[in-house]
Amino acid sequence: MTRRGRRARFPLVKRILPRTLFWRSFLIVLIPVVLLQGAVALVFIERHIDNYSRRLAIAVSGDISYLLDALSRVSDEATQAMLIARAREDMEISLQPRGDAPPAPVVHGVDGGQAARALHLALQERLRDPTEVHERLDEARYVARIATTDGVVELSIARKRLQNPTTYLFFVWMVGAAILVTSIAVIFLRNQLRPITRLARAAEAFGKGRPIGHLKPSGAAEVRQATAAFVEMQERITRQISQRTDMLAGVSHDLRAPLTRMRLELALLGSNRANPKLEADVKALEADVLEMERMIDEYLAFSRGQEGEAPLEIDLAQLLEDVVAGVARQGAGVELQTERPLAVTLRPGAMKRCLTNLIDNAVRYGSAVKVAAARRGGAIEVAVEDDGPGIPEAERERVFRPFVRLDAARSPNRGGAGLGLTIARDIARGHGGDLTLSEATSGGVRAVLRLPV
Ligand SMILES: Nc1ncnc2c1ncn2[C@@H]1O[C@H](COP(=O)(O)OP(=O)(O)OP(=O)(O)O)[C@@H](O)[C@H]1O
Ligand SMILES: [Mg+2]
Repeated sequence: MTRRGRRARFPLVKRILPRTLFWRSFLIVLIPVVLLQGAVALVFIERHIDNYSRRLAIAVSGDISYLLDALSRVSDEATQAMLIARAREDMEISLQPRGDAPPAPVVHGVDGGQAARALHLALQERLRDPTEVHERLDEARYVARIATTDGVVELSIARKRLQNPTTYLFFVWMVGAAILVTSIAVIFLRNQLRPITRLARAAEAFGKGRPIGHLKPSGAAEVRQATAAFVEMQERITRQISQRTDMLAGVSHDLRAPLTRMRLELALLGSNRANPKLEADVKALEADVLEMERMIDEYLAFSRGQEGEAPLEIDLAQLLEDVVAGVARQGAGVELQTERPLAVTLRPGAMKRCLTNLIDNAVRYGSAVKVAAARRGGAIEVAVEDDGPGIPEAERERVFRPFVRLDAARSPNRGGAGLGLTIARDIARGHGGDLTLSEATSGGVRAVLRLPV
């Protein structure tokens, strides 16, 4: 409920947020750094650069005003030329008097960035003549055209007089610091996340019934704690499983001897044909003992199959083919459809048993049997379908319980101990998968085995 509620509340956040812990932590580091630097940059540009450009512009406009004033006061050309030359050298301002040429019209205006705007404003304040300022990026100069009473003058001002050449350094440092801080954070993050990733992988492998190897608790205290708890849990489960299989094997084994003796004794009793009533009873008893033996064989085979078998990477398609061929040798026709190859890590003996149990059932209760295997999502699905009488929906969970046989009353000689599905599901779950029953389109049983890859 809560999960669903949360998902409904922040659907967008969920979609945008990266899925792995690493990228989430990375964002947690990166976002404050970017926000902080953005804020600093904004304030810096607003205050510092703005101020700085204004002051430079005021200084330049003062020089221009001085130059224009001085030029208007002297009339001899040699002095004017000297003043212009000095301005070019000392102030880095070149002036081209337009002389008698028809003055180009000057419109109030500015074309360029912040420095151009600041210069335009400063000239306006000081001279009150119509002024245009252009930024010439190619020549790295600013050009100001001023309509004085003596005509239009064009001044070209070196860029460095209006712009702080070291401003970019500030940005270089800022971006550099951001990269440095995030890189250091990434290195630390990686180290902190490695034990968590390892734990997640181990838990996943254990869930799928694969070996996890030695897992040493490492990393932060909480991760160590979780790892230690996981190792303990995994050891306990493994111990329980092996105890259970050992006991199953022991009991089954011990029961075999008295059962065999009973069968022999019954055979002796049965050969005494004096009493026909007794003979029938002995036959029934013999059948019961045979069934018990078969059950015990199943148990033994099961405990042997699960225990000690190492998971291998195999081609499930090949395994299915073998199982189907085995059933076909007993005279049943089974249609197999499979993608190939279907590489998956599993215990081949146990899986063969699981599939054999399913196909055996299908063959026993139906006549047309279809087996289909395909990759679906992160899993492999094997579906076994028959056209038999099917299993009523209410019984579909019950048949997984040991010794449950639906048709025991109807046809006691058909079928076995009622362990086939129990064992098959046990094996499926031991591989991290599951086994479910549903109705086939033909009305029979559709058994689906899902195995995570
Ligand atoms: N394909 C099927 N069609 C109809 N009924 C089925 C099918 N598979 C299983 N069942 C029913 O489920 C019961 C349990 O099946 P399960 O495989 O566990 O035992 P079994 O086949 O009777 O004996 P065992 O497999 O141990 O030899 C069966 O007795 C049968 O009634
Ligand atoms: Mg069976």
